[in-house]
Amino acid sequence: PTPTDHQAENATISQGVVESNHAGFTGTGFVNYDNLAGSSVEFAVMAASAGNATLTFRYANGTTANRPMDITVNGALVSDELAFDSTGAWTNWTTRSITVPVNAGANTIRATATTANGGPNLDRISI
Ligand code: GCU
Ligand code: CA
Ligand code: CA
Repeated sequence: PTPTDHQAENATISQGVVESNHAGFTGTGFVNYDNLAGSSVEFAVMAASAGNATLTFRYANGTTANRPMDITVNGALVSDELAFDSTGAWTNWTTRSITVPVNAGANTIRATATTANGGPNLDRISI
């Protein structure tokens, strides 16, 4: 099926702020994670059927250091410290995809920063 976009700025944000000062985002902005471990963004997504789905993150990381995040689906860790490597500038946005298991119907996807640098700037997910 065609992926559906879910904008980070419309998701449930814990320790982060919606901003729009770095061009190239989609929707109305992006989430600037607070620069600390544990900051997170949680998305409510629907899946037509149970099974594996492709989950794509669109993000920017204007530093030179990886900004890893733990990815959970319905509370289960599906990717431990997934790398969000440098994109060279805060205005350079790129995508990173992983395969995740989903339930039919409602699912909760959360991306939580695991280092003191916080997460990257997150534009959206698609699934
Ligand atoms: C800068 C940048 C932010 C970013 C932050 C960071 O302040 O403008 O968008 O989130 O660096 O290092 O996390
Ligand atoms: Ca930040
Ligand atoms: Ca966005």
